[in-house]
Amino acid sequence: MPDPQFVIAARVQDALSAAFGPSYSGADPVIRPSQFADFQANVALALAKKLGRKPRDVADEIVGRLDVAGVASNIEVSGPGFINVTLDDAWIAGQTTELLADERLAVPAAETPQKVIVEYSSPNVAKEMHVGHVRTTIVGDAIARILTFLGHEVVRDNHVGDWGTPFGMLIEHLLDLGEEAAARDDSSVSDLTAFYQAARRKFDGDEEFAERSRRRVVALQAGDPETLRLWRLLVEASKRYFNTVYRRLGISLTDDDIKGESFYNDLLAPTVDELESKGIAVISDGALCAFPPGFTGREGEPLPVIIRKSDGGYNYSSSDLATVRYRVDTEHADRMIYVVGAPQALHFQMVFAVARMAGWLNDEVRAEHAQIGNVLGTDGKILRTRAGGTVKLIELLDEAVERAGKAFDDVPHDEPFDDATRKAIVEAVGIGAVKYADLSVARDSEYIFDFDRMIAFKGNTGPYLQYATARIHSIFRRGGLKPEAATGPLTIGHPAERALALTLLGFGSAVRLAGDTAEPHKLATHIYAVADAFTTFYEHCPVVKDDVPPDVRASRLALCAATLRTLTTGLALLGVPTPERM
Ligand code: ARG
Repeated sequence: MPDPQFVIAARVQDALSAAFGPSYSGADPVIRPSQFADFQANVALALAKKLGRKPRDVADEIVGRLDVAGVASNIEVSGPGFINVTLDDAWIAGQTTELLADERLAVPAAETPQKVIVEYSSPNVAKEMHVGHVRTTIVGDAIARILTFLGHEVVRDNHVGDWGTPFGMLIEHLLDLGEEAAARDDSSVSDLTAFYQAARRKFDGDEEFAERSRRRVVALQAGDPETLRLWRLLVEASKRYFNTVYRRLGISLTDDDIKGESFYNDLLAPTVDELESKGIAVISDGALCAFPPGFTGREGEPLPVIIRKSDGGYNYSSSDLATVRYRVDTEHADRMIYVVGAPQALHFQMVFAVARMAGWLNDEVRAEHAQIGNVLGTDGKILRTRAGGTVKLIELLDEAVERAGKAFDDVPHDEPFDDATRKAIVEAVGIGAVKYADLSVARDSEYIFDFDRMIAFKGNTGPYLQYATARIHSIFRRGGLKPEAATGPLTIGHPAERALALTLLGFGSAVRLAGDTAEPHKLATHIYAVADAFTTFYEHCPVVKDDVPPDVRASRLALCAATLRTLTTGLALLGVPTPERM
């Protein structure tokens, strides 16, 4: 990895073992960015205590053994024993030239590729997707893309809620409407919220309907073919709706990725049997429960995971236990990432704990809940329409695009656009703004859905980054050159060139970190830093002006090309589109 911080860390570790013996080779060299140099290594301070020596002497000894020839010739010990490292411009330039020539932008593939199941989106059948589902969809998609790029075998898994008691009333309501309604896209079924609410109202107010619905649930669970056929009509209508949302958002999920709750139905009984035979599940108050260690209620009493209700029915936990077991036994996953709302944290902690008791999860096979924070309105409350209803996703996206159009017309453009081109760009800007807003903040923190902030062309926003990429394209157009033709070599003249190149070299570790932690915002933060460094560079360093000497021009064009590829690759990993002209 050319990431300077890693290069220096590795060299300091070599010096440590050379100076103090091989047992010190694994010691953390404590590399930090420095005000006085590019980095400082602070390991001498901690090590001195251990060795009972003066930190400065320890630092001097490390420096004496430090082999950084060709990387950094300026090494200084300062203060109590900080080792300041300033990289050579020539090394930075050489590494950046290499990065530019590398298809993967020097992002190393994982040494041990894993099979990773990324479960995300997971909306509920016959219900509208809300902004919360959208956030898990957008963040999950980015996690899947990043891990794929890192060389892992990624299985996208859309765990839709397509089973359970509500389907009794939904099917009966469908029959009341006439089942052809489900096939039409302009029907009341396609307005899922209205459909669901109407069914609910009848269920609550009409005893005959409620009774039919309950019988229908029993028939569904018994596998009655006619009931299953009707159920499938509802699932299909919902899938059409989900796909409209996915295509509009540029989400990589397809129907093949759907493994809904119904998929695990036949596995519920064997899963529960296994838990019983292993002595993990016991009857408590008539229900079958597991009591994972460490989970207690307010009075200190052990908290149960209910695995089979006292009426013999299964629930959300049974379904998730069957899911973990299937992913381990049949899919042979090494890692499972559940991109699901933070409010479900306790549910997953307890399910995973039971799965560990059963031996399905262990140190080699990991499951993690990638928590997604709530999406709030600008009033700080759960996002609602002015009338207090749930916000319809498609309307929200339409508004984003409309606002993007206004913002777009307010910024200067190199050229006029015809209507069709403008429409395509504005769509990309509006959608990109919404997606990037979800991705640029830590996924587990709540975030405020604020059109004005996300659609601004300044700051850490989608439009700002898209604009930066379009601006680089326009430099190449003005220079009469294709970005691929700019191969350098790079040289470092101006401090802004140096800062930009140094930032570009950190791309690989940013991607790696985002993948390891399943936190796309760590990649977003890096891309934003790249765009910022580019902006400063572009303010100070003319590229295609007439008086720029040819070798400087070639180097700067190469720097532009490396920046462009980093931005477009990074944004593609996040799933944010990058129009070439803006
Ligand atoms: N359908 C659920 C919901 O909308 C999310 C499913 C999460 N995944 C899981 N394995 N439980 O809340």
